[in-house]
Amino acid sequence: MTTLGMDTQYGKSSDFDAFAVSLNRCLKRHAHAFEDEGIACDFKAIVKWTDAVYAGSVGALEALEEYGPENLSNLKDRIFLAFEEQQRASAEFPGANKSEDRQQDRYAVAYRDVSNALDQLIKAVIPLTQAPTIGEVQMKLVAPKDDGQKIDVGIKKESRSNVAQALGAMLASTYTLYVKSLFYHWNVTGPQFHGLHVLFEDHYQNLHEAGDELAERIRALGHFTPGTLESFAALSVVKDDEKLPKDAKGMLLNLKEAHELCAGEARRVLEVAEEAGDEVTADMMVDRMRFHDESIWMLSASL
Ligand SMILES: [Fe+2]
Repeated sequence: MTTLGMDTQYGKSSDFDAFAVSLNRCLKRHAHAFEDEGIACDFKAIVKWTDAVYAGSVGALEALEEYGPENLSNLKDRIFLAFEEQQRASAEFPGANKSEDRQQDRYAVAYRDVSNALDQLIKAVIPLTQAPTIGEVQMKLVAPKDDGQKIDVGIKKESRSNVAQALGAMLASTYTLYVKSLFYHWNVTGPQFHGLHVLFEDHYQNLHEAGDELAERIRALGHFTPGTLESFAALSVVKDDEKLPKDAKGMLLNLKEAHELCAGEARRVLEVAEEAGDEVTADMMVDRMRFHDESIWMLSASL
């Protein structure tokens, strides 16, 4: 029998492995007990039963992953349904009646053992299903991460996650371009100083507001949002400056390229949002594309 070890957002696979080992051990113990007593037909029934319990366990863990920790009671229900299924199967098995009483005793003990194994699993899983604390998030958050709250905005959980991830990259690129625009706003020199100083200010103000909206959209989709310079550097397609461009033209070229990258990011998010049926994010992306497209035009016209 393979193990139940699964990587899920609710826990380390080792927690599930511990459960699988525990479950496996008690199933084998009961199967061997039947074998030792020479009750061949019961042993066959037990094999069926272990298969049913195993299938029920996998289904239950998948349900946990899909529907969340509030369905932990469902986890037990599904295992118990597997037991009932086995009992129906063994009742139909020829020769089962001969040792029916003893068989039922065995089942009662096995039922209790598996129930204990489930309790262990639930104990292992519950602390991990609670929303991460702010400290944990600050330490570990690089990309958007499910905040553990149950929400239903009419978009599937997996689709919300896809949109949140795409928005995380867009946020990082937007913020990096915001910093770049500020950097050039402060340091631009030359005959175009006043016009570019004002243009870059218009840009960084827009980017600042956009970053806030993108991050809050990620939150509305049930994910914690990245917000550290390290995470932005990791996720952004726009690269931070290593040095100040030598003149205004260098700044304009850098900004044009960065806006082009952001326009491309916005179109990528739009595709993901449309696929997810997330019209709010899609609508936001129309604004972002308009801004970046117009900025590319204005920067090019200033060259
Ligand atoms: Fe300023």
